[in-house]
Amino acid sequence: MALGDVGVFHRFARLYDRAMYAADPETLEAGLDLAERPVERLLDVGGGTGRASRALDVSRPVVVDAARGMLREARGHGLETVQGDAARLPVADESVDAVLVVDALHHMADADGVVAAAYRALRPGGALVVREFDPTTLRGRGLVAAEHLVGFDSRFLAADALADRVAAGGFRASVPDRGFGYTVAGVKPARAGEAGTAGEGTGGTTDADRDPAVPSNQ
Ligand SMILES: C[S@@+](CC[C@H](N)C(=O)[O-])C[C@H]1O[C@@H](n2cnc3c(N)ncnc32)[C@H](O)[C@@H]1O
Repeated sequence: MALGDVGVFHRFARLYDRAMYAADPETLEAGLDLAERPVERLLDVGGGTGRASRALDVSRPVVVDAARGMLREARGHGLETVQGDAARLPVADESVDAVLVVDALHHMADADGVVAAAYRALRPGGALVVREFDPTTLRGRGLVAAEHLVGFDSRFLAADALADRVAAGGFRASVPDRGFGYTVAGVKPARAGEAGTAGEGTGGTTDADRDPAVPSNQ
């Protein structure tokens, strides 16, 4: 199955950080704060050069991306990386506390697959946080046109439409931030009798180096 817009990012990876503005930690943290467990293990999916991970105060984020060039840049920033498809996350079931997808979902071929993969990877109480652009806003319409003009296959969703897809994937979904750039968050419900706190009952790992399902391909 197709991955999405990956080849262009691989080829232009060296230029990416120069062309991009810094990620806004406040909006990302506001989404992550919805997690009902401490966020110790975070996957930055479609994380590219690790722009979002670098904005956050998380001890050891792991950047997952399909573009080798982008991961090379992320490693240059000292980040751990795993090459893989966001819709088939190469991590164990219930092994992470948060999955971040920043400015990337519209580049991915299988948005529902990405939501399902995040659900599988998250521990109960963990959060999926997606930052996207609303194509129904004036700036959003401009962005849609611009991305298609340069050859991207981008598929943008409005905030409520994405929240519906996240809810359909089993999450408790919300839209904590609206506008041209918006956040959709989904919390994986804790199982009955589970408090959703770190170290409780899920058997997941906390260290990428010790998790055979998260190969460090550096
Ligand atoms: C616009 S960049 C965003 C990178 C980063 N999240 C940021 O905010 O700077 C989109 C990223 O999505 C990645 N991507 C697209 N489809 C993917 C897929 N199916 N699986 C993993 N990564 C994918 C691309 O390789 C690219 O690095």
